[in-house]
Amino acid sequence: MAVRELTFRIMRYNPDEPEKKPHLQDFHLTEEPGMSLFVVLNKLREEQDPTLRFDFVCRASICGSCGMLVNGKPTLACKTLTKDLPPVTTLLPLPVFKLLGDLSVDTGVWFRDMSLRTESWIHTDETFVPDAPEVRMDNELALKIYEAERCIECGCCIGGCATANIKSDFIGAAGVNRVARFMVDPRDKRTEREYFDVVGTEDGVFGCIGLMACDDNCPVGVPLRDQLAYVRRKMAVAGWHYQKV
Ligand code: SF4
Ligand code: FES
Repeated sequence: MAVRELTFRIMRYNPDEPEKKPHLQDFHLTEEPGMSLFVVLNKLREEQDPTLRFDFVCRASICGSCGMLVNGKPTLACKTLTKDLPPVTTLLPLPVFKLLGDLSVDTGVWFRDMSLRTESWIHTDETFVPDAPEVRMDNELALKIYEAERCIECGCCIGGCATANIKSDFIGAAGVNRVARFMVDPRDKRTEREYFDVVGTEDGVFGCIGLMACDDNCPVGVPLRDQLAYVRRKMAVAGWHYQKV
């Protein structure tokens, strides 16, 4: 198989130097067998430009830190192989999140804010007894919770979401998925009306315009379409009762 010369067109911008406008810079590299974008970016930084900024921690689709736009599609760079890319690839940082530089964005602040807004913790009046024996949970129920917990907070569903790109307060698919996680958990004693107060708004579950790019873009296959339908249904019923009270 012929060895390919690849071009990576990468957005360069340092928010600390606002006088230098964002621009695309071309880098060239010879493709190697089994090469991922993780390898590409590290090679470019080591061999061509030590100032190139991007994030990686695990290299195994676990930590969620390497989300970026690869030829316009939000995805994890560490799981993207060059063999699946054309000779010229454009790399841009995920939109919506605060840009730290080049391909590096701060997803942490966004996810922390979303966690606080959706009150992502078990709400219960029960007193915590540290030495109490563990309470068993039905397997099926545990799996439902685990399904939502598989979110690695990469931000790909948010970066590719039309609503999140124009409404900075929209909680997005990751937020709706988070709410679904607590709704199915019987230890969380919040009523549907209490959930409605948190997500029954245009910035919450009713802000989605149904394009479902989130579902297509989630690199770990969280069933975002189903989660959204589940929470929406519950909140529509809760809202209806709410109006009548
Ligand atoms: Fe990433 Fe999927 Fe979680 Fe969205 S739901 S943040 S795409 S893992
Ligand atoms: Fe951890 Fe890509 S480096 S998900």
